[in-house]
Amino acid sequence: MRPRLGLGVVGFGWMGQAHSRSAARISSLFPDRTFDVDLVVCGDNVAGRREQATDGFGFRESVDSWHGVVDHSDVDVVYVTAPNMLHEEVACAAASAGKAVFCEKPVGGKPDQTVRVDAAARRAGVVTGVGYNYRWAPLVQHAKQLIESGALGEITNYRGRFFSMYGADPMGLLSWRFLVDEAGHGVSSDILSHAVDLAHMLVGPITSVSGTQETFIKERPLPRAGGTHYDRGRPDDPTGAVTNEDYAAAMVVFDNGARGTFESSRAIIGPESQMAFDVYGTKGALRWNLETMNEMDVFLVDETGTAPRGYTKVYAGDRYPFHGHFVPGDANSIGYEDLKVIENHEFLTAVAAGEQHEPGFAQAVEYVSFQHAWLRSCESGSWETVTSIRQEDA
Ligand SMILES: NC(=O)c1ccc[n+]([C@@H]2O[C@H](COP(=O)([O-])OP(=O)(O)OC[C@H]3O[C@@H](n4cnc5c(N)ncnc54)[C@H](O)[C@@H]3O)[C@@H](O)[C@H]2O)c1
Repeated sequence: MRPRLGLGVVGFGWMGQAHSRSAARISSLFPDRTFDVDLVVCGDNVAGRREQATDGFGFRESVDSWHGVVDHSDVDVVYVTAPNMLHEEVACAAASAGKAVFCEKPVGGKPDQTVRVDAAARRAGVVTGVGYNYRWAPLVQHAKQLIESGALGEITNYRGRFFSMYGADPMGLLSWRFLVDEAGHGVSSDILSHAVDLAHMLVGPITSVSGTQETFIKERPLPRAGGTHYDRGRPDDPTGAVTNEDYAAAMVVFDNGARGTFESSRAIIGPESQMAFDVYGTKGALRWNLETMNEMDVFLVDETGTAPRGYTKVYAGDRYPFHGHFVPGDANSIGYEDLKVIENHEFLTAVAAGEQHEPGFAQAVEYVSFQHAWLRSCESGSWETVTSIRQEDA
């Protein structure tokens, strides 16, 4: 008999809903699963969101305070999908209550918060997960396999980026993401974290960094109740100051000697959700972009020198990891939220087995150790060494 995992969700906005919907889809998409999911309780401080959770998603209960989720006796797993500066308090309380904890990236808005959350979870001995969902794209998994197999030879350099237009419109509302008190750091916590996490998975640890950052849009219209970072204000709305960065970039050196660059911006015109990488080796190269996530360009050197030269486009299909759970055959596409289904299946499988999961809080700490050095470099204007800031005596 499969164990029934009771899920509690804190914060029922984009991510709270995406995780709940995705968890509920696991039973039909993964017939060989080792657990079943029970949507127990959702916590949100907005009444309409709570109603949506029970009425639209089938949660048994909803509560207006996150304590009612963390303390609920039927909850085995707490999903922390609230604004970043709430992560630490909720995730630490959930871990202390002995619940498995899935926290959306960036696990706290600032590096020291991530370190404390990781230490609390290790002390409690609970299974943890983090929402680095792009790891789970079938073609990204294929890229990992190609690199590990040596097909690309020695990796020489890597170009990672996450460009999003969500903050490109100066009339976009001053939602929590633009405020240091609610989000912590700006794009370095929000989206650069995804780009660097993928590089950690594909190429390995980073040992030194030179960083720069900027806030291009310094004032935005104040939000109305329920407004998100995708909503617009009106010209006569009162405005407030943006208090974290729009743009974050870095040059890096990897432990294996490869060189790399990263750029991320939320205030850029053109790329709409370009979470992308190019990786170059002595025998080949790959390039992938979330905007066309079912395609990857692959260049493998032909040692006979006779084959046509250039990148070959590979389409996602059921011959790549996880894809066949959603659609059979070749080039039948999957979408963004399908990555959340894979993410939740993999995490909950680990919870059911009582085994640690990757990416978990250890990988979040690996990112913030990078971010900590990046912040120092932005201050000093010099290259900085990346050292782990994990709390060793937890
Ligand atoms: N992995 C990804 O691709 C991805 C994408 C988007 C967001 N995120 C992360 O997910 C988290 C949530 O982002 P989002 O876009 O879903 O935000 P959102 O603004 O859409 O939703 C946040 C929700 O939290 C609720 N909330 C606020 N304060 C609360 C409190 N005290 N108690 C309970 N609920 C409260 C809000 O009412 C809202 O429903 C963030 O950490 C963000 O970085 C990850």
